[in-house]
Amino acid sequence: MDNKKSSGIEELRRVALISRPTPMVKMDNLTEALGGPEIYIKRDDLTGLAFGGNKSRKLEYIIQDVLDKRADVVITWAGIQSNWCLQTAAAARKYGLKPILLLFRTAEHTGEIDGNVLLDVILEADIRFCETKGGRVVTEEEAEDAVQKVVNEVLEKGHRPYIVPIGGSVVGGSMDKPLGAVGYFDAFNEIKNQAGKKGLKIDYIIHASGSGSTQAGLLLGAKADGTGIRIFGVSVSEEKETFSESILKIARDAEDAWGLKTSVTDEDIVVYDEYIGEGYGFMNKNVADTLRFVALHEGLYLDPVYTGKAMAGLVDLIKKGTFKKSDRIVFLHTGGVPALFPYRNIIVDYLSYK
Ligand SMILES: Cc1ncc(COP(=O)(O)O)c(C=O)c1O
Repeated sequence: MDNKKSSGIEELRRVALISRPTPMVKMDNLTEALGGPEIYIKRDDLTGLAFGGNKSRKLEYIIQDVLDKRADVVITWAGIQSNWCLQTAAAARKYGLKPILLLFRTAEHTGEIDGNVLLDVILEADIRFCETKGGRVVTEEEAEDAVQKVVNEVLEKGHRPYIVPIGGSVVGGSMDKPLGAVGYFDAFNEIKNQAGKKGLKIDYIIHASGSGSTQAGLLLGAKADGTGIRIFGVSVSEEKETFSESILKIARDAEDAWGLKTSVTDEDIVVYDEYIGEGYGFMNKNVADTLRFVALHEGLYLDPVYTGKAMAGLVDLIKKGTFKKSDRIVFLHTGGVPALFPYRNIIVDYLSYK
């Protein structure tokens, strides 16, 4: 490995959930349509577990921790159509653990058995539908109260719960180290090695950023590597000031936990919050057009909540002249495609399909 400034992080044990390396290919048609820079796609939508996605890389380390701590029930929470919850439930099932999911009604979703919820049902996850006061995002207090009730219930039944914070990102619940970030520290090295084999020098990696550990992990990998690859996160929910602080905290917790000498600072963190639109989980016409643009040129599907917004951001940044024509950009496809289906009506409306 070429991360000279890292230490124990490479030796961490993980369970096996994904097929690696995931493909990384050039998007020739998209590159041509946009007139450069060169755009590559890293297909983490093909990680292999439960329709793929970035969460399974994180869960390899988290489920290892669940097993090490001898827990038998995994509890987590998120918005109703959560990719994270689905991936957690699938990973738990693979390792003989019982998943309990607290699914909060957010955005336009009412709890129909569709998309990720359908996949949760097939896994026989123990689903608890919950309400949010604002109806838009789950607040920390709401999640804490609801989780505590479930934890008490699990303990009363004589089971051993493991609580994983939303997205497997920040330290909290039963997770005492930022294990999610390790998955993307690895992924950075995977991308770097793949690029090396193709003789490519990458300038940027850009991706959708939600709970922060994908970005924190990639950033740690990039800093350890030291060749100047920039990591750009497109926020899907939080404003850049507060979100950058969360990413910095995750990165610093990882540096402390594993003795990394990467010294990430707030200047390393690049977050674009211009593409959130109306809020987390709310789609807009620009995102629908972007889904179609990528499908038409590459025969490839993005999702409406994360990768669609991130790609809309990339296209706009290219149009604004943020990159040089000679730059090489890797767009990280972080998954989430099953969420297309519950958005069918809005997508059909925006794309004026009759
Ligand atoms: C499809 C998809 N892309 C991107 C993200 C964002 O990743 P992170 O939560 O690590 O910022 C998520 C997670 O919420 C996701 O489900």
